Amino acid sequence: MPDRVLVARAAFPDIVDRLRAHFEVEDNPGDTVWTPAQLIERLQGKRGAVTTGSERIDAAVLAACPELEAVCNMAVGYNNIDVEACTARGVIVTNTPDVLTETTADFGFALMMAASRRIAESEHYLRRGEWTQWRYDMFTGTDVHGATLGILGMGRIGQAIARRGALGFGMRVIYHNRSKLGSDVEAACRASWVDKHTLLREADHLVIVVPYSAASHHAVGAAELALMKPTATLTNIARGGVVDDAALARALRERRIAAAGLDVFEGEPRVHPDLLTVPNVVLTPHIASASVTTRRAMASLAVDNLIAALGQGPSAGKPPTPVNPEVLRT
Ligand code: GLV
Repeated sequence: MPDRVLVARAAFPDIVDRLRAHFEVEDNPGDTVWTPAQLIERLQGKRGAVTTGSERIDAAVLAACPELEAVCNMAVGYNNIDVEACTARGVIVTNTPDVLTETTADFGFALMMAASRRIAESEHYLRRGEWTQWRYDMFTGTDVHGATLGILGMGRIGQAIARRGALGFGMRVIYHNRSKLGSDVEAACRASWVDKHTLLREADHLVIVVPYSAASHHAVGAAELALMKPTATLTNIARGGVVDDAALARALRERRIAAAGLDVFEGEPRVHPDLLTVPNVVLTPHIASASVTTRRAMASLAVDNLIAALGQGPSAGKPPTPVNPEVLRT
């Protein structure tokens, strides 16, 4: 009798089908977002699961699903998973790093450019039929080329954004991270470490790429926004909750910063109502990694992880991208 696994959200059917060679698969072609109770019910008798950011895997879920051994998240972020609780129970957790780095960096750059050059705001104006004549100061924004790019969180995606800014747009790149990068990495992306206050004060364009955790909750709130230049933009492609959305909406409305680009929101898919009414923000529905090629690569990596984590396939026992590899050694 093959092991049973769960694919919690719809994914590319041809990629999900690869699991069927090894397991009995329950999937979710209707793509319902299950409640925690529904998820627990579906996980009964399953040894592994492919999850997304919509499924919370915490101690209560683990306790209710004792047969679960592998949780393979189809995302690089895994703040939906209590990794410590998984490790304590010997449950391997995997994510999908690397395959989405460049695509996500492209999107972060696009949002930053859209915010700074007021692309969405001016497009809405045109569509409303308000464009009747050219004006010298119509939708004037702030330059990206030659400006100071500030990056909060300098992991793989932050570094890819830094390279775009420095090498493609002649930007001065500063970053803040808990730990300073090695000088070889800093040189490759032409970026310098600064403290957080300096980052906020000096950035013309602040891009937030720091993972969400209790420590990064509201890392940018009213006090941090008050340090920023009135001409600055803020782009968040990390996670909702890293930015205090209510404080950001106030700062945008009062023009204490110029504009923002947001792909992630506190409590998404709900969006703070004040963000929906301020004009100087570009809003997208958590799609930074959404190129066809990259989303397929993410699904494929999640599937490879699950096959290997449950001891099948050519890499049996060695999932390619474990988050808590210590579980594999026990
Ligand atoms: C998307 O937000 C991801 O973490 O992959």
